[in-house]
Order: sequence, then C-alpha cells, then structure tokens
Amino acid sequence: MHIPIGHKVKKMFSGIAYKYDFLNHILSFGIDYYWRDCLAKKVKKLDPKTVMDLATGSGDVAFKLSDSLNKECAITAADFCQPMLDQAKIKQLKSKKYSNITFQFGDAMHLDFEDNSFDVVTIAFGVRNFEDRNKGLREILRTLKPKGSLFILEFSQPNVWFKPFYFLYLKYILPTIAGIISRDKNAYQYLAGTIESFPSKEALKSQLLEAGFSKVDAYGMTFSTVAIHHAIKQ
Ligand SMILES: C[S@@+](CC[C@H](N)C(=O)[O-])C[C@H]1O[C@@H](n2cnc3c(N)ncnc32)[C@H](O)[C@@H]1O
Repeated sequence: MHIPIGHKVKKMFSGIAYKYDFLNHILSFGIDYYWRDCLAKKVKKLDPKTVMDLATGSGDVAFKLSDSLNKECAITAADFCQPMLDQAKIKQLKSKKYSNITFQFGDAMHLDFEDNSFDVVTIAFGVRNFEDRNKGLREILRTLKPKGSLFILEFSQPNVWFKPFYFLYLKYILPTIAGIISRDKNAYQYLAGTIESFPSKEALKSQLLEAGFSKVDAYGMTFSTVAIHHAIKQ
C-alpha cells in the first residue's frame, strides 16, 4: 500500500515529539541555539509586523523571534504535527510570555492563509521534509506580501574536506545515540538520509528562483553543514 510521505513524516515526528528538543541540543552539540540566533538577527533587520514560522515543531524559532522582534509583531507558528505543536504550547504556557505567538495547525502543502498575509516567513529544518518542495515553496510565496522575505534555515552540503567526518557522524553515530534516547533509530536514520540527499546552497537557490522568488542569497554556517537562504518575493 502506498503511504504518502507527508503521512510518514507526521507519524515520525509524533513519535519523537516528547524527546525532540533534548535530542536536538545533544546531537548538534548545542550549536542549534547559535543557528536560530543567526536566523532571528537576519529577520530583526527587516522589523516585520507579521511573521509566520512554518514547520515550527516545538516552537524554538518562534520563541527566539518573539524574544528578538518588536513585541507588536504578530507571530503565527504553524505545523502539521499536533504532538509537536502540543510541546510548543506547553512551553508557551510554562514561560507565561510569548503572548504574541499563535500556534496553530498548518500544512505547507495547502496553507490556510490568505494571499499576501505575512512580511516574513521563516522555516527551520522543515523544507527538507516537504512531500513536494516546489508546491510548498509556491504556497509560502503566495502567503508572503509583495517584497516579503522567506528565510530558510536548513542543512546543506558541507565543505568537501569536512564531508567524511560529517557523514560518518550522521550515518552511524547520530542514529545510534538518538536511537538509544528516543527508542526510534529508524526516525534518525531517515533524517540522516534526508540531510545527505538535500541540495547544495546553489541548487536550493535555483529551486527558490524556479518557485517564483525574485532574489535569493545563501549564507553557509558551521563548515556549510547548515545554511540560511533569504529569498524575496517581487
Ligand atoms: C526537524 S522539525 C523542525 C522544527 C523546528 N522548526 C526547529 O527548528 O526545531 C521539522 C518539522 O517540520 C514539520 N513539517 C514537515 N512537513 C510539514 C508540512 N508539510 N507542513 C507543516 N509542517 C511540516 C514536522 O511536523 C516537524 O515538526
């Protein structure tokens, strides 16, 4: 029986939702805080009034944006995996701040938002899991206001010299550690596979232009294992 990729991704994140943050910080040696920081700094420069954090998961990018941006900024944080959103909402409740964030269900394949709704859309480590990347990027483009910006924080293809160490870690060490902690080695093997097959900075740039964005810049970080793409709607 054919099971759509979106369904598999949703199920996988449902299974690891409760351990997601812990594993994220351990497996990235805490560098994920720095990557989100860099993303928030880039968004802050634009001083947006309306932001959507898509594939928000447990909400860390949305929280970072809320801390960094003007308090008047309305942040919509959407994800299609309810257990991940539940984790985000628990964190929001516990913190007693972040009242400018609305967490809600949203599937990047058909977003339930009007055309031209947001000044900025951010998406961190989500694009890689889209069932149809071009469709998702076109949906984001539709919901952005003219001159609006999309920021994608995502894994990328590392510098050549770093590749052997990186893929050794990604393919063998990471799934083993994550498997012990989450009891779902398969989920992390799948994630490692999607990282290995994800396009380079140049290739993702081309995909963004093909989806209809007018200008794209890419910034590599941590030996280019991760990159931020900034794409602008005409
Ligand atoms: C690796 S997590 C990233 C979460 C968060 N952005 C972060 O930086 O920690 C990927 C998230 O993308 C979400 N996702 C994948 N495909 C999606 C889609 N089509 N629509 C909405 N969310 C999606 C998953 O449910 C998951 O929560």
